[in-house]
Amino acid sequence: MSKDEFDEYRDNYVETVEKSVEFSGLRHSFFQESKALIIKDLIEQYLPDNSRKTLLDVGCGVGALHPYIDKMFTKIHGVDVSAESITKAKINNPMHDYQYYEGHTLPFADNSVDMSLAVCVMHHVPTNLWDNFLSEKTRVVRPGGLVCLIEHNPINPATRLSVARCPFDEDAVLLGARPMRKRLRQANLDCVKTRHFVFFPTNKPIIRSIERRIGWLPLGAQYAAIGIPR
Ligand SMILES: C[S@@+](CC[C@H](N)C(=O)[O-])C[C@H]1O[C@@H](n2cnc3c(N)ncnc32)[C@H](O)[C@@H]1O
Repeated sequence: MSKDEFDEYRDNYVETVEKSVEFSGLRHSFFQESKALIIKDLIEQYLPDNSRKTLLDVGCGVGALHPYIDKMFTKIHGVDVSAESITKAKINNPMHDYQYYEGHTLPFADNSVDMSLAVCVMHHVPTNLWDNFLSEKTRVVRPGGLVCLIEHNPINPATRLSVARCPFDEDAVLLGARPMRKRLRQANLDCVKTRHFVFFPTNKPIIRSIERRIGWLPLGAQYAAIGIPR
């Protein structure tokens, strides 16, 4: 997908995702809540102190996830290659900070944030830019902070179906958890891990605690990949 093709989804991003997953009977909000719960777990585990936490969300789109996670951070910055999505994100979430960037060098200093995130973005980045994408996401995070990516699990049949039904995923190149871990290690990250989630169509606490235990199984619809910069 060329870098500004998401511009045309600025007003119907959520509806487009909902249409592609409607066969599952699940709403977009369910997936957002699932991601927020994983992010919360990761923060509690890897950034446990109570001090200020800043997030850079790379490929933030229209900022649809931010209302679900904004209590976890003192400051959220979002960047995207879609200028129209950034305009919409600013309208949706005026309390956060959004910037367009050209897709190569993140407009942030080295070691300037506690966590960088990219949710369902990597599969839209041209594969020849994947190494640069990961090294930029690593560069901006302070040593001991957290680099996190959430991606579709290509092994999961429901994920494959929703990707096939989604018009903006037409040229998506899905990356499985194992090759993702390899790339994160090559990006000089320590403690590289992946955890699968969305095994079941509910976020009830009992199911969540089961999912926490089976996150190593590469069967959930999505996975979170993390690493810690040295
Ligand atoms: C499927 S949307 C996900 C949006 C958002 N992360 C979310 O979960 O709601 C993918 C986003 O990645 C952005 N994108 C594509 N290539 C990018 C790149 N190289 N750097 C940053 N964002 C990129 C697109 O413009 C789009 O907004």
